[in-house]
Amino acid sequence: MQNVSLAIVGAGEFGRRYVQSLQELSGIDIRWICDHSAEKAQSVADGLSDTRITTDLTEVCADKALDAVIVVTPENAHRVVAEQALQAGKHVIVEKPLATTAEDAQALVDAAKSSGKLLMTAFLLRFDYRYARLQQQLTEIGTVRNVYAYRNFDRSLFALYSRTHSFLENAIHDIDLVLWYVQSRVKKAHGFCRNTLGRENPDVNWGVLEFENDAIAVVQTSWLYPPQAHERLQWNTGVQVMGDQGVLEVRFDSDGFRASTENAGQLVLDQTGWATIHDEPRGAFGAMLRHFIKCLRGESEYCGTTPEEAMESLRVATMLAEDSSSKSDST
Ligand SMILES: NC(=O)c1ccc[n+]([C@@H]2O[C@H](COP(=O)([O-])OP(=O)(O)OC[C@H]3O[C@@H](n4cnc5c(N)ncnc54)[C@H](O)[C@@H]3O)[C@@H](O)[C@H]2O)c1
Repeated sequence: MQNVSLAIVGAGEFGRRYVQSLQELSGIDIRWICDHSAEKAQSVADGLSDTRITTDLTEVCADKALDAVIVVTPENAHRVVAEQALQAGKHVIVEKPLATTAEDAQALVDAAKSSGKLLMTAFLLRFDYRYARLQQQLTEIGTVRNVYAYRNFDRSLFALYSRTHSFLENAIHDIDLVLWYVQSRVKKAHGFCRNTLGRENPDVNWGVLEFENDAIAVVQTSWLYPPQAHERLQWNTGVQVMGDQGVLEVRFDSDGFRASTENAGQLVLDQTGWATIHDEPRGAFGAMLRHFIKCLRGESEYCGTTPEEAMESLRVATMLAEDSSSKSDST
């Protein structure tokens, strides 16, 4: 069977992570690395053989042998890249959020429809065993009444990610899960935010969602864990779903494996996101990429977030951000 050939557009930190994980999968050719900065593209391509680098997306899209484009640019540039790739007949993985405006999201949904190509927004938690298993267990707990999802990170990351409101950039992972679990439309969104770090967007964000079926959800994200001097970041994420007949929980999604060393102190080691064991990506990220490849090969039916669902999670995230900014004490 022919290898699937891919282009990575956006050679920042996360573009590098895609390259690392894709290199560990079989049956893949990384054909292009594209970035506005040739230097960044070159640095991510270092060590790859037969990979071309370019600053010109048109050159990538014109490549007839290319199957798919992975969009890892900043959030507000997702549309410009993904739309061109879809129009050129390429399958697309776009990092979350699908886009940063309703208009851009709609344009991508339309482009995917008219191209007939797969457009996967990279909501990797749907491929995390525990979050996916929780969804399968929902039939055991009756009607879902409330959900609490939290995602708290290290301050050092916020220097980069404060460029986009955290409801859209970060809590959107949880919004996607909450919508998947509750299966009802959000009718009201209440956002409460605080800007304690003085950056472009608030670093403390609480969102309360009211659904048409009467369920309530809280999505909470902050960036107040102290920065670490070591390679591992501190973070704390999880979800709790309460129904009429039971409660389902994923607690602290990287817990269960700690290393305490004299050099680094206590570290929580990732086992669930991008963990690689025996040269194979084992976490949700690897599972998501393997699924995408299998879909392209016609070996699997697509089960990730649909473009319409990704657009809905953006609608809800935007409602929260707008509601919070309408309150005078919530900046
Ligand atoms: N799923 C996750 O857990 C997760 C984690 C981190 C980042 N992300 C997402 O990954 C994406 C990239 O994040 P990052 O941390 O790598 O950002 P980054 O700013 O480090 O890198 C983005 C790169 O894209 C390049 N770029 C910008 N516009 C471009 C364009 N139009 N064409 C080509 N290149 C362009 C920039 O030069 C830069 O090198 C974001 O959407 C972010 O939300 C997801």
